[in-house]
This record gives sequence, structure tokens and C-alpha cells, in this order.
Amino acid sequence: MNPFAYRVGRMCAEDVDLAELADQAGTPLYVYSTAALRRRFEGFSGACPPGTLVAYSVKANGNLAVLKTLARLGAGADVVSSGELKRALAAGIPADKIVFSGVGKSAVEMRLALEAGIFQFNVESEPELETLNAVARDLGREAPVAIRVNPDVDAGTHAKITTGTADTKFGIPLDRAIQAYRHAARLEHLKVVGVDVHIGSQIHRLEPFEAACARLMELVRQLRNDGHEISRADIGGGLGIGYESGATVPDVQAYGRIANRLQSELGVALIAEPGRYIAAEAGLLLARVRYVKAGAAKTFAILDAGMNDLLRPALYGAYHEIVPVTEPGSGLASETYDIVGPVCETADLFASGRILPLLERGDLVAIMAAGAYGAAMSSAYNSRPPAAEVLVNGADWSVVRPRLSDDALVALDRLPAWLEG
Ligand code: LLP
Repeated sequence: MNPFAYRVGRMCAEDVDLAELADQAGTPLYVYSTAALRRRFEGFSGACPPGTLVAYSVKANGNLAVLKTLARLGAGADVVSSGELKRALAAGIPADKIVFSGVGKSAVEMRLALEAGIFQFNVESEPELETLNAVARDLGREAPVAIRVNPDVDAGTHAKITTGTADTKFGIPLDRAIQAYRHAARLEHLKVVGVDVHIGSQIHRLEPFEAACARLMELVRQLRNDGHEISRADIGGGLGIGYESGATVPDVQAYGRIANRLQSELGVALIAEPGRYIAAEAGLLLARVRYVKAGAAKTFAILDAGMNDLLRPALYGAYHEIVPVTEPGSGLASETYDIVGPVCETADLFASGRILPLLERGDLVAIMAAGAYGAAMSSAYNSRPPAAEVLVNGADWSVVRPRLSDDALVALDRLPAWLEG
């Protein structure tokens, strides 16, 4: 069942009427569905080999309520900062299901993660190995380490979210991996446990995953020959979703078979770090039309949501389906719109040349598949408090991130002594 569907002409999130929700909680509003989170999580983990640690990538949507929903389903977490680590722990994700990724972890972040007793550090450079070893020595601990390798595989996705090619900052090049593992093995407070790869995000073909896994298999064989005990393989995240209706989407079962092959050929414990696959379709951004404006050549529908709330279209030219919350009757007139926000930039454009049923001031629209990298990337640009967030569960809903007031935003700033008074 689609968690966001029309019922008697009105779009609902599970059993909650979106128009009523907008009246009560205000817009712009992120709306997440518990049922969809559960279905996506269970669909993903069910496709992976039994025992796979599904470490949900917190960066996609780190709302505490989302994390806690996933924690109760058995999710682990992939974190990239002490902030994400604290969120994951606060949501009840056990430390031994948390992996720490990222190219620039600080010593303070490493210390926190070591003290918490996380499952694994995915280390991305030789100097990072040294730093982690020093921090672990100070604490009298041993840090479990996988090295993220850069397999030089093109994921075939947007350049800004491609991470597995040789020209990106990510991972250690494969041809230096053996050397890096020897380096790690010499450091007394590191325990080499596995290998890690992540080639990009919104990947819509499976071949790049297969290519990356093939290189990982070869690497593990070489490492074992070199005397390392490799018992884990982290295959990262990146499985894409269909933003556009009719888009070809990778089959999660086929993805699972690739993971299965890797696992059975190497006899390792698997870790996967899905973010978008779990959260994107579990959320939408609800917005109200403020004005419909006739330009010289185009008609603009100006929403109360802006690029500060959902940056993806402005940053990546990303496509999001936009639908009216009241189901359009058949034969209703339509119009071609540029759907924009109120922010003072031409980049504040959600969709260009989109055909929608006639829109009027006050109408509600839903920007679909916004549950991942939506609220998580929002900002207060133009001094606009980011959209509030609501989690729906059946007929229940709850505000899980209130909207800040203008005054609360202003109150975050401080004046230096010479400007007081
Ligand atoms: N693991 C690592 C090491 C990552 O860097 C990422 C995403 C993931 C896992 C999760 O990838 P996913 O399964 O969500 O594709 N803001 C962009 C996406 C950036 C992804 C960054 N890394 C967007 O809105 O499309």
C-alpha cells in the first residue's frame, strides 16, 4: 500500500488527511510515514544476506523520531560526525551497530566514538590511521578499523554525489591499499577487521555495485594472502530510487544477490549503509501556493516552501514529483508552471515547465520523495526557519521537529561588547 495516496479525492499520509494536517501544523511541513519507513527498511534488510548489519545512513534523515523508528526495527547507523553519533545513540541504536564514516573525522570525534564503543571506523587516509591510533592509545583502547578504498568505479550518477572515482577525495586508492593495511597492522592500537567501499548515491544501475564488489573481493584475497584477518565487508550505501514516475529503478532483490555473492565467496560479515532507499519515499514536503504569478513568458506558482527547505532541485537539478493535495477531477484544465519558492534566487526553483491542474492561491501541493536529504540539508537562508517535521503512524501524528520562530532564530546570534547598547 502506498503510504501517500488519495482517499476520496484527498491525499492522506497513512490515515491522516494532509489538508487537515496542514491546517493544524502549518506549512511548509515535512511529513514522514512510519509504515513506509518500516516497509523500506524491512524490504532492504530482507533482500540482504541474513545477518547483514543494515547501518542506516543518518545523513539522509537524522530526525530522532525517524532514527528511533528504525532502531526499533533493528537498524544500525552509519554516522559521519559526533552530532550524528549522538543522535544515533540518543535514538537507542546500540553502539555495536554503529559505523563511523567520513574523510575528516576529528580526534575529538574519534574519542567520543571510542568511548561509546562503536562497531567500526571506516578510515579514509594514512594520517587518519595515525590519529585514530594516537587517540586509542590515550584511551588505552583498540579501535576496530576498516579501510575505505577507492575502487575507481564510476557509479553513473550525478557528479556531485559520485564518490568512487579516482579523482574524488574519498577512500584510499586500490593500488595503495595493501600498503595502507600494512601500515594499519603496525599501529598497536588499531585492529584491522574489514574493508569498506562506497561509490556514490542515487545509483540506478547495478553494474557499478557489481564492479566495486569484484574489486573488493580481489582486494580481500590479496589482504588475506598478506596475513590480515578480514572478517567484515562494508559495501556502503547508494541504492537509488525512482523520483520520476516510470523511472527504471534498481531491483533491491538483485542488489541483495550481489551482496550475497560477496558474502558467500568471502565468508565475511556484511555491512550496508543505505540512506535514501530507506527514507526518501517515506517522506514528502507539504507546501501551500502563496501566489500564482504571470511572468512575461511563464506562469509561476510561488510556494511557501523554498530552496532553504529542500535544496536538491537547486543544488543538483534534481527532479521531484509535485502533486496537488486535492485530487484533480478528470477533464480539469491544466497549466504549465514553474514551481518556485519565495527565496531571492533564481535557483529557488523546484520544477520548470511542469504541467499541473490549475493552481490557485491557498492550494496545497506535495513534493514527493523528500524524506531523504530534505530536512537534513535545510537551512535558515533568507532568515526563513526551516520547515517543521511531522511523523505519522496510522491515524496518529506528532510534530517531531517544531518550526523555530523568527525570534528564536534571531536570538541565536550574539553581539560583541563593542556593539552592545
Ligand atoms: N555511506 C556513505 C559513506 C555515504 O557517503 C553516503 C552518502 C551513504 C552511505 C548513503 O548513501 P545513500 O544510500 O543515501 O545513497 N545530498 C545528496 C546525497 C549525498 C549522499 C552522500 N553520501 C542528495 O540529495 O542526492
